Amino acid sequence: MLPTNEFLLALPKAELHLHIEGTLGAARLLDRAERHGVVLPYETKDEVDAAYSFANLDEFLALYYRGCDVLRDAEDFYLLAKDYLDTCEVENIRHTEIGFDPQAHLVRGIALDEVMTGLSNAIAEARSARGQSVSLIMNFMRDRAPSEALQVLESADRWIEQIDAVGLDSAERDFPPALFAEVFAAAKDRGLRLTAHAGEEGPSGYVVSALEDLGAERIDHGVHAEDDPALVRELARRRTGLTMCPLSNVELKVVPDLAAHNVLRLLDAGVAVSVNSDDPAYFGGYLTANFVALRDALGMTRSQAVALARGAFETGFANPKDIERWLVEVEAFDQAWVRD
Ligand code: ADE
Ligand code: ZN
Repeated sequence: MLPTNEFLLALPKAELHLHIEGTLGAARLLDRAERHGVVLPYETKDEVDAAYSFANLDEFLALYYRGCDVLRDAEDFYLLAKDYLDTCEVENIRHTEIGFDPQAHLVRGIALDEVMTGLSNAIAEARSARGQSVSLIMNFMRDRAPSEALQVLESADRWIEQIDAVGLDSAERDFPPALFAEVFAAAKDRGLRLTAHAGEEGPSGYVVSALEDLGAERIDHGVHAEDDPALVRELARRRTGLTMCPLSNVELKVVPDLAAHNVLRLLDAGVAVSVNSDDPAYFGGYLTANFVALRDALGMTRSQAVALARGAFETGFANPKDIERWLVEVEAFDQAWVRD
């Protein structure tokens, strides 16, 4: 049975792979540019939407880092996170794990305190006013020096209570995970959870390296893991999460089209895959839109949608009691939903 849009919207969900800088939509971009007197090459929402176009990961990242130029103080980061957390409430996202790229801001002379103050204020408000569950993931850029990542980790020590995990992102090809073994070990020593982008544009060997050399507990994307059947079996055996991002993969030409996406094949192989939006302002939709697109292109059934939602809760970094509670809620929701 195929799920309706209403079912997919109402389904209790978790999002584990979301770059907060990738939620910078046209309206907020223009509003922040005006506030700071930043001159952009576009003036209207339509012009921004038209400019959000790219042929691959590198072209996308150039646009994404350029957009960051309008994010300058704590208020900007607060509003960015608040906009996204408002969307989470509308989309029934019970738990989200927000990634951010400190280096994209530090290199422009923006202090980590501005970034952390803004993000943590929005997160604290979402938790206390609406009971939303939010984790924060500090990503290191793999196309910058590992020594810089280590400095960033050290400089984040005064904010360590607000940070739950570290990740690894940005241009993947030619930047193997092993380069970051030292900084991941230092993050683990601080009690942080570990995740890493791998197998997005890089090969399946990068997925193996993220697991073995970095000790990553889950993998962001992991599309190319499928090229190595033994790896897929091992991921399934260990229930290692793959936080997959279907619309992102289409837009960045990781897959030729959605019909070719392997998320449901990996689900059927027993891998703990989840659906995520990555950079929703750039890739045409938030989390529910990704579920809807999978139904339309791949015929994702209602029980597959429920299994994907379960996979996200199961592999999240929330505390185990909350995870258990959400898994029960998903089951109850599915039972109670009137057949449609
Ligand atoms: N940073 C933001 N989005 C990303 C993606 N899809 N891959 C790597 N780095 C990113
Ligand atoms: Zn990503």
